[in-house]
Amino acid sequence: MPLPYSELVMEHFQNPQNIGRIDNPDAKAIEGSPACGDMVAVYLRVDEETKTITDIKFESYGCASNIATGSIITELAKGKSLDEAKAITWEQASDALGGLPPIKTHCSVLAVEGLRAAIQNYEEKHGLVREQEATTEEVVRKRLCHVMNPSVGLDIIRTKLVKEISVNDGDVLVVLDLEPTHQFANNIREEITEKLANRQDVRSVEVCFDKQ
Ligand code: FES
Repeated sequence: MPLPYSELVMEHFQNPQNIGRIDNPDAKAIEGSPACGDMVAVYLRVDEETKTITDIKFESYGCASNIATGSIITELAKGKSLDEAKAITWEQASDALGGLPPIKTHCSVLAVEGLRAAIQNYEEKHGLVREQEATTEEVVRKRLCHVMNPSVGLDIIRTKLVKEISVNDGDVLVVLDLEPTHQFANNIREEITEKLANRQDVRSVEVCFDKQ
């Protein structure tokens, strides 16, 4: 039986707004859903003076609900300040779409988390994060829960790809149980670096491959 999607969901699914990517974006993030393994990427262009989102685009590897939510939140976020955009909730997105079936809640949460992660990426790059907690191995592990292993659609922690994490005076080392020639090795390395390199107290990020 088809899911009871509202007309608005269908409209945004069939004609999504702001779909695609921005070349050389000011910030970007890829987030994955632990619930279904789907991913969303969000790209931002931000006015440095006013801290306003002047352009935003997204790519979705998720379902109709995720695409519709990506479409509506990018519409809601465009022209807003970073603080205003950060405050957009999945409930607001869902309301703006005329509601989503409860089983599809995680799909709109994923889109909102993608937006927030892209904003966080901007703030970290521009030193706008206040009182960031110190980067410990535990903090690195938590951040790596947001790096997907595209081979299986789950994050690299759950899929036990991370063999070792060490943090030494701002130098972060992540060892992966993966061949360096693996088709996703470079993507995963870039994602890890993206998630960690802009933290205030991180000096370097090294990703090593050590397949057993
Ligand atoms: Fe994965 Fe909707 S089922 S994003």
